[in-house]
Amino acid sequence: MPAAYRPTSFEDLESVDALVVSSINDLTERHGFGRMASPSAPRFQAFSLQDDPRGLWTAEDDGRPVGFAWSWACEDFWFLAQLFVKPGLQAAGVGRTLLHRTMEHAEAIGARNRALITFAFNTVSQGLYIQHGFLPRFPLYLMSIPRERFGGRIPDRVLEVRPLDGSDAETSLLSELDRLALGFSRAKHHRLLAGEPGIRAFGFNQGGQLVGYCYISQSGHIGPFAVASPELTMAGFETALAVAAEGAVESISCFVPGSNANVLRCAAAAGLHIKLPMLVLSTDELGKWPCYLPRNPGFM
Ligand SMILES: CC(C)(COP(=O)(O)OP(=O)(O)OC[C@H]1O[C@@H](n2cnc3c(N)ncnc32)[C@H](O)[C@@H]1OP(=O)(O)O)[C@@H](O)C(=O)NCCC(=O)NCCS
Repeated sequence: MPAAYRPTSFEDLESVDALVVSSINDLTERHGFGRMASPSAPRFQAFSLQDDPRGLWTAEDDGRPVGFAWSWACEDFWFLAQLFVKPGLQAAGVGRTLLHRTMEHAEAIGARNRALITFAFNTVSQGLYIQHGFLPRFPLYLMSIPRERFGGRIPDRVLEVRPLDGSDAETSLLSELDRLALGFSRAKHHRLLAGEPGIRAFGFNQGGQLVGYCYISQSGHIGPFAVASPELTMAGFETALAVAAEGAVESISCFVPGSNANVLRCAAAAGLHIKLPMLVLSTDELGKWPCYLPRNPGFM
């Protein structure tokens, strides 16, 4: 058993990222998906730690991290970004204890809804979450297509697109779009993304109005993506695929909610393949994300 459960510090973040990467790869290899994770600069973790350190907990053994839990909150929405235990130390109560610590964060902010994204093939994580009141809502698919298979299948732009400048005025418009798509503002997360290297923000315009946004990374990953109404989702998604394909990318990828039949059909028709099946869970009704595509399972 770990010697201590303690708040995470900035100095922990790199070693904790290595722990998370090894835990993901152990899981995905065991389930036949191969190694899927690689180390990355823990920018969002550092941002969350600065923003509200109550959501980040480390389990430590012999001076080394063996478990990590990380939650963030926006208004009264709480999200579990990561919960990982070192392979070899799993199934001994570490994950449960870390989950309890981070759920105190949810209590402290007076969370009205709590949500997370986990691997659809992990019975252990789902069992643990269901015991704590999280219910499965809908599947989420990581889908992608390599450039050599684009071959005329990627749709053309439908909406007018413009690069976003990260100004305060624009951030408050993005935050209004999040309110429509998700029910809460993510202004602070847009400010973080505006400073991220290798990611570009685009706005969708209609009749001179900003009706949606999407972020596209250098690697061709789309998300987060949001539009003002379900009627705009297909046009926005097709436009995002077109803009991603115009870049010098080796592939296009995105997370598609299985609850969004039109986007799922469009992604399949464009030749995107499912790389990883995931599942969205929440304690209260979450809606079906008809206007939203997350960035990844931690950012949501
Ligand atoms: C998921 C994870 C964090 C859980 O941590 P852990 O320390 O292994 O889990 P714990 O021992 O605290 O608790 C696991 C609980 O799951 C439950 N469980 C296990 N298998 C289950 C199953 N097939 N069905 C239902 N519940 C199950 C058990 O009830 C167990 O609790 P109990 O034995 O005390 O009753 C850890 O296994 C892990 O890192 N897995 C790989 C990465 C991952 O999937 N992380 C989640 C990302 S969101």
